[in-house]
Amino acid sequence: MKKSLVFFCFAFYFLGESSLFLQAQKDNSKVIGPEQCVMCHKREGKVWKRTHHYKTFSQLHRRGRSKTIAQNLGMKGSFKRKGLCRNCHYTVRGENNKAIYGISCESCHGPARDWVSLHSRRDIPKEERDKLVDKAGMLRPDRIYHVAENCYQCHSIPNEKLVNVGGHPHSSRGFNLMTWSQGEIRHNFLSGEGRNRKITQAEKRIFFVVGAGLEFEYGLRGFAKATKKANYSLKMSRKIRVSRKKLIRMYKASGIREIRSMYTSVKSLKIKLNNEAAFLRAADKVKQVIIDFSFGYTGNEKKLAKLDALMNGELDEISLSPEKASLYKRIGGAKAVETAVKIFYGKVLKDERVQHFFKGVDIDRQIEKQKAFLTLVFGGPSYYEGKDLREAHKHLVVQGLNDGHVDVVLELLGETLEELGVAKSDIEEVMKISRPMRKYILNK
Ligand code: HEC
Ligand code: HEC
Ligand code: HEC
Ligand code: HEC
Repeated sequence: MKKSLVFFCFAFYFLGESSLFLQAQKDNSKVIGPEQCVMCHKREGKVWKRTHHYKTFSQLHRRGRSKTIAQNLGMKGSFKRKGLCRNCHYTVRGENNKAIYGISCESCHGPARDWVSLHSRRDIPKEERDKLVDKAGMLRPDRIYHVAENCYQCHSIPNEKLVNVGGHPHSSRGFNLMTWSQGEIRHNFLSGEGRNRKITQAEKRIFFVVGAGLEFEYGLRGFAKATKKANYSLKMSRKIRVSRKKLIRMYKASGIREIRSMYTSVKSLKIKLNNEAAFLRAADKVKQVIIDFSFGYTGNEKKLAKLDALMNGELDEISLSPEKASLYKRIGGAKAVETAVKIFYGKVLKDERVQHFFKGVDIDRQIEKQKAFLTLVFGGPSYYEGKDLREAHKHLVVQGLNDGHVDVVLELLGETLEELGVAKSDIEEVMKISRPMRKYILNK
């Protein structure tokens, strides 16, 4: 124990990091490890093993970016040993804080030693059992705020130095609880009675509100750590502004008072550096409102349903960077995408160099996918499908899809946009946005 404590202190001292992470509060000595969960939860385990969360264990240290970040921070040695990286990239077990897996079951459902043998006891009535496991630290899906809070503790990076000096992303771009929890993460076999059920529209709305609240809360928590006017503080203050705007629009559309309370509870707060205590207090207030909403909202489905229009994309435009939002709008938004898909798809099917990849596919589904893809390359509100690009192209990579083919598709996209009268500079920007997608498409 002593040794690990010394190491921890050393790691933080080394980075000049005075405040510990939220994750550090988790009791690693109570982590039992995912092997035990997947003994009973086989299907959940199978899904998990296909996620980035699982794979990061074997991949993170091999990435060039990791080395650059470590170099920038002057860190040496294994990433699995570094307190700072370990808290978000791994599951850490035992008193020696050993990294045993990537992000795993207990990263989201809570360290399990005290609840694992209780939570499956069907001889205890559910209501009573829920109380017991809650007390023992289980984060049940029904307490969605508490499960989702974990996502934001990792996907929003509350560390100025790691971002400004290390060059680590400040957040997962476009992180969104509703969409990101339903892609590769989804594992609803229990409630799906064996099938991996998608969440219902009613559940989606709750995720949408809880996620929007958390985005605001974690903007505040992030900014609390800001001491200098530089990249980190600018990004965090932007996160606060954008997420607040989102909440305001959500309140206006639905009339749900709890949503209003999320942003009015911190009305008087000025965005000012080196103001940690005030920002954390504000974040705690927001947290309480979100929890009250997520437990207590029995209110009216009608009001919640009014959020649907925003949920389906319109809203997300405002969370894009201004340049990109305007590109998407300049090109003509959803309507332009419709037209572009028709022309683009026609070209792709006619082109001998790539048409064979599209043989025998379901045309309607393909068009939906193309729409999502084009929205993405226009910088529109479709980012989550980007995560699915890898999945969607996997079989094509096996069939020989390579860089050359991607070039052809981009060329055809360029032609399409030209025909639609899109400005040259905008086409160039589309090409620029498409570039990072290559790695997903080619499964690199
Ligand atoms: C001995 C078998 C067993 C093990 C081991 C086990 N579970 Fe479960 N788990 C179950 C059963 C059975 C249920 C369904 C209980 C019920 O019917 O309410 C369940 C339910 C759950 C639920 C849903 C609870 C709810 O209220 O919706 C979660 C989350 C969960 N388990 C996570 C885990 C995690 C994480 C681990 C490892 C730390 C784990 N389980 C280990 C058998 C197990
Ligand atoms: C607060 C949580 C947190 C901490 C601390 C953290 N990371 Fe990350 N890291 C993330 C998340 C979340 C992502 C995924 C970002 C995304 O979606 O693009 C990520 C992504 C990365 C990537 C890929 C980013 C890229 O630009 O492609 C690298 C490399 C990385 N982290 C290295 C590190 C290293 C090295 C450390 C320790 C010095 C570290 N991280 C500490 C949460 C964290
Ligand atoms: C312990 C920290 C941690 C927690 C908790 C966490 N994540 Fe992550 N997540 C990461 C890191 C780090 C990565 C990047 C892994 C990599 O690519 O190496 C990641 C990647 C992802 C990806 C894949 C992104 C891609 O590049 O395709 C999705 C989706 C995701 N997380 C969703 C979620 C959701 C939803 C939650 C909450 C229910 C959550 N995460 C909770 C740390 C975390
Ligand atoms: C990235 C965070 C994350 C990880 C990792 C994770 N879960 Fe979950 N889990 C969730 C979320 C969020 C929900 C609720 C999702 C929903 O309603 O769509 C959930 C729901 C569940 C449920 C209930 C599903 C249902 O049908 O109601 C079980 C059981 C479960 N998880 C078990 C596991 C097990 C076992 C593992 C590890 C193999 C695991 N989870 C890993 C976040 C996670």
